[in-house]
Amino acid sequence: RIAGPSVLVLFGVTGDLARKKLLPAIYDLANRGLLPPGFGLVGFARRDWEDQDFAQLAHDSVREHARTPFREDVWRQLSEGVRFVQGELHDDDSFDRLARTVRELDASRGTGGNYAFYLSLPPKLFPTVVKQLKRCGLAESEDDSWRRVVIEKPFGHDLESARDLNAVVDDVFPPQSVFRIDHYLGKETVQNLMALRFANTLFEPIWNRGYVDHVQITMAEDIGVGGRAGYYDGIGAARDVIQNHLLQLLALVAMEEPLSFTADAIRAEKEKALSAVRLPDDLEAGTARGQYAAGWQGGASVVGYLEEEGIPDDSITETYAAIKLGVNTRRWAGVPFYLRTGKRLGRRVTEVALVFQRTANQVFNHVETEEQGANSLVIRVQPDEGVTLRFGSKVPGASMEVRDVSMDFSYGESFTEASPEAYERLILDVLIGDPPLFPRQEEVELSWKILDPIEEHWAKNGQPEQYESGTWGPRSAHELLARDGRQWRRP
Ligand code: BG6
Repeated sequence: RIAGPSVLVLFGVTGDLARKKLLPAIYDLANRGLLPPGFGLVGFARRDWEDQDFAQLAHDSVREHARTPFREDVWRQLSEGVRFVQGELHDDDSFDRLARTVRELDASRGTGGNYAFYLSLPPKLFPTVVKQLKRCGLAESEDDSWRRVVIEKPFGHDLESARDLNAVVDDVFPPQSVFRIDHYLGKETVQNLMALRFANTLFEPIWNRGYVDHVQITMAEDIGVGGRAGYYDGIGAARDVIQNHLLQLLALVAMEEPLSFTADAIRAEKEKALSAVRLPDDLEAGTARGQYAAGWQGGASVVGYLEEEGIPDDSITETYAAIKLGVNTRRWAGVPFYLRTGKRLGRRVTEVALVFQRTANQVFNHVETEEQGANSLVIRVQPDEGVTLRFGSKVPGASMEVRDVSMDFSYGESFTEASPEAYERLILDVLIGDPPLFPRQEEVELSWKILDPIEEHWAKNGQPEQYESGTWGPRSAHELLARDGRQWRRP
């Protein structure tokens, strides 16, 4: 799978995402031989820059963040196709210049009229850009060429705004040309969830309510809000990552086997799973939210959310969220799915854990451990990518005592190839036009339908509970599981 001749137009080139992820990913693709020789990259931004200034930014971010080693020849070939257009999003003239630059580059590099527009911008700017693309004639393809638009989450901030946003994009680009990025789907370990389930006989027979006691999906971060106050405040943890990354993980765990690995087949199964999601009857008892207070992280003292630069003193934005959901299907009825995410937690870790029911009859003495004999299968999404199976084993010695032990698969040990960055895979898929890893609008809307009532409930019920930075979240989150006689895993 190699991308064909094409131009990628990048909006928001000076942003964090472009510098840390997108530009390095483009270089890594080139370095792996997955981009065509004539590939073109056009940056658009307000800065008063020339082509070489943008090329310099790209060069620096590649040197700092690329996964693969720097090779002068690869960089030289790539940078020959780099252009920059200085302009304003509201300005017709800027887009006319963009159109000219893209067409000239297309002619000189032989990219066949195939253009992808990557909107690495705040969503409120999407309507302006797509309308401009239409107006200046770049949105419409001729002959056999294609035009694609890539949008980054958040896709709206609730169901209604997601629909409005979609209407604007849909007016200019047909659904098959719209690529919505949820970068979790680009992660190897997330794709491996499907391989684990559907390429093996071992797991599927026990992947259901007959064996699984509950599921825990954790996305913990050690970082705080950093320089993203403007984006994050008013959005909060649930809109930022539960609506997309965590509900996508839930869908992949809960869905039935797709008929094939085609976009339509996979998305249809994910949508069925998301449609079957049920909220807790009591939203206060079935959810928890918190906001980090000052504390310690990695040996350094850190400030609380309200002391972060750009955050209002009275902000009620949650930086931690936990939600208990049900999935009303024959496979999952009665099995709780506990989702949690937070910033400034004990450490950075994302995992999906299926915790199994205990044996009906405990013949052996179980050594005191956290799990107390509940087997679990843990898909370690990051950072230590792999899969762990936890089960009881006899402790060596004269007595018949059992203790929980681990059987591990680790990507680092089993594969010599390093996993590509999520964005590398996703950008390649955009250029190839391969959509299975991109959620479609129906999934986005179903996810907002799950989250909207929770957000409304929280908005009416005031301040999130403070938790000390470097801990595992607010007390209410622990109580949420304790009420069910369960506890969160300590990853
Ligand atoms: C983004 C969120 O989608 O994912 C950020 O907006 C979060 O708040 C980031 O930090 C985490 O991504 P990753 O790949 O490091 O888990």
